[in-house]
Amino acid sequence: MPPRKKKTEKHVGKKTQRKKATGQSAKGKAKRAQATKRKLLSRLNSRKFRSTHEHTRGVVDWAERLTRELKKTRSKLSVRMVSDAAWLHDIGKLEVNPTHLNSKKRLSTREKQHLQEQHVLKVRALLGEVFPTELKEGVLSHHERYDGRGYPLGLAGADIPFIGRLLKVADEFQTKIEQRIFQKKIRDIPEAWNEMIRGKENSFDPYIVNALGRILRRRRWI
Ligand SMILES: [Fe+2]
Ligand SMILES: [Fe+2]
Repeated sequence: MPPRKKKTEKHVGKKTQRKKATGQSAKGKAKRAQATKRKLLSRLNSRKFRSTHEHTRGVVDWAERLTRELKKTRSKLSVRMVSDAAWLHDIGKLEVNPTHLNSKKRLSTREKQHLQEQHVLKVRALLGEVFPTELKEGVLSHHERYDGRGYPLGLAGADIPFIGRLLKVADEFQTKIEQRIFQKKIRDIPEAWNEMIRGKENSFDPYIVNALGRILRRRRWI
């Protein structure tokens, strides 16, 4: 057997340098992502959308709880990444044209589709290049429904990115709790949960709703 070639100093140096450079650029990208996140959130809060901050905080909480629960079977899920996506999930509100919101004119399916496609492009541009693809997909797909009747793309089932399905459950559950509080109902969580299981088959991924059920039962909230 020929003697193994010793690594030259030059070789080791290059490898270490490359490792260092990749590490630094990944660190730099993560820092830029956090800075962009802060900027986008302060823009969103300054637009004074009704209860946006409170709503977002709630969605982040549920999304983090769900991720921890689902991590038991899906080890690749990152709580940090899902949490960032949850913070940014409603960032598309920054791109909603107020004239469309206030317009009483009924839009045709084609017009609606066009507006939604435009919206997707604008949200993609808003998030830019600093965030991971999975995060962007989650933000863009959290209004899709499991039965394919959601928006913006009308994706169904497993075609919806997993993180989008997770955010959908967290977002809707938080919204239902807020509505109940708004209606001054005290039994907010159990009632919100009942509404969730009614929509389990068509709006949500049942696997994720079941995980929410486990969390709520463990805490004796339902
Ligand atoms: Fe939303
Ligand atoms: Fe939301």
